[in-house]
Amino acid sequence: MSVATESGKFAAPRVRQTKILIGDDWRPAVSGKTFPTYNPATEELICEVAEGDKEDVDLAVHAARSAFESGPWSRMDARDRGRLLYKLADLMEKNLEELAALETLDNGKPIGDARAADLPLAIDSLRYYAGWADKIHGSTIPVRGDYFCYTRREPIGVCGQIIPWNFPILMVAWKWGPALATGNTIVMKPAEQTPLTCLRLGELALEAGFPPGVINIVPGYGPTAGASLVKHHLVDKIAFTGSTETGQRIMADAAMTLKRTTFELGGKSPNIVFADADLEAAVAGAEFGLFFNQGQCCCAGSRVFVEDAVHQEFVDRMVGRASQRVLGNPFDSETTQGPQVDKEQFDKIMGYIQSGKSEGATCATGGNRYGNRGFFVQPTVFTDVKDEMKIAKEEIFGPVMSILKFSDMHEVIKRANNSTFGLAAAVWTKDVTKAHAVSHGLRAGTVWVNCYDVFDAAAPFGGYKMSGIGRECGEAGLANYTELKTVTMSMG
Ligand code: NAI
Ligand code: MG
Repeated sequence: MSVATESGKFAAPRVRQTKILIGDDWRPAVSGKTFPTYNPATEELICEVAEGDKEDVDLAVHAARSAFESGPWSRMDARDRGRLLYKLADLMEKNLEELAALETLDNGKPIGDARAADLPLAIDSLRYYAGWADKIHGSTIPVRGDYFCYTRREPIGVCGQIIPWNFPILMVAWKWGPALATGNTIVMKPAEQTPLTCLRLGELALEAGFPPGVINIVPGYGPTAGASLVKHHLVDKIAFTGSTETGQRIMADAAMTLKRTTFELGGKSPNIVFADADLEAAVAGAEFGLFFNQGQCCCAGSRVFVEDAVHQEFVDRMVGRASQRVLGNPFDSETTQGPQVDKEQFDKIMGYIQSGKSEGATCATGGNRYGNRGFFVQPTVFTDVKDEMKIAKEEIFGPVMSILKFSDMHEVIKRANNSTFGLAAAVWTKDVTKAHAVSHGLRAGTVWVNCYDVFDAAAPFGGYKMSGIGRECGEAGLANYTELKTVTMSMG
């Protein structure tokens, strides 16, 4: 199969793995069922993938359980666990071109983004956590009486990890790194829209030398495979990234077995531009903050608040930049915007664009489908947006920016915080005092000042309010994957 490009033909990567990984065995679903995954740029079928369900999840959980309790993993020195993570990172680097192309094929993101953002961030994350593996320790505690008291940080056990389709490889790395560094075992369910790179990473993990059962992968759908994992009695923890609605359901399902849960959910992040900002940098940052990854980012800066003195100029420049974005074949190196991941997302976004128009916002550019093949949406900018409009309140998860006007710092902090979400935010100003005042006033897990979407494996990321529970990345990410044990011994 090849994908036509203006500059000739691109040979799409060969799909090597479409089965379920249990232990070191790649097998079809117990039911024999498969599900399709599509190329969102062409709407063509890529291949069929084994459709895991309850029985497959049960086998995977048992494999993970025995690797945790009695396999070589349970006796492995922490430093050697770290070495395996380094090896996996090296293998990803070695296969970077293939992985980037496979990600673009299944997800639709521009190949340049996959190469320059997704893969390097994922590799960095695994190396960062590899370095932590032998540095996770407890403390000694001076207690009253003749006792010796100390704590240990122990792995939680079998971790169910459920990830979305917007950053498939990066989500694998964010989930595997801290879980494996701390000595847990994993059953992962990739998103049904984008299972292919996760399965390929499973192959690379076996090649790196992870013992069988440490990493198990069950592709399939949420209400079947995903829900079985959440409800399974032998799973100790669920880590989830995805929609707030599914997060709520998972929290309810996990309550039956009182699992540890961490969530990274939706957002409606405010991006605040003051009149004293470097306007060109703010416009470029706002464009990146919203349109990157086709707007399919949990932290997308989708509410752009602009101070009235520079509002018109900001709008003019933003409309100019948005209309210059290059849509098309994501394998073309000039393409800056690919298709949305699937028809469901495309329809949802078009519905929001319609609602923006009918609620009285001005569609300053875009507003329609691009082309007639693939799930492309024109870069869209709404002005005259009011706080109570649906497009200003709900997560659109597409290339749709809402620009709102403000005139006072205290007013804008209040309006920015008037959301059920609290994932990220940004502020653009040259005034250092104002930058800190706004950063402290915002109820969000991350605040970027004069930049947007700056991620680092060492910097914690996660949400306030209905945007999530717990933090990923950084030292904080380790806390999600350990139990704290207190040992008290009589010295008498
Ligand atoms: P989703 O939250 O339903 O899917 C994410 C993952 O959860 C997938 O692997 C899915 O199979 C699984 N899942 C679904 N239902 C489940 C259940 N009952 N039990 C266990 N696992 C389950 O998100 P979806 O439907 O793909 O997208 C809907 C909206 O969610 C998007 O339009 C966007 O607004 C938001 N979203 C947010 C993401 C983020 O990074 N915060 C990522 C993806 C979607
Ligand atoms: Mg797909």
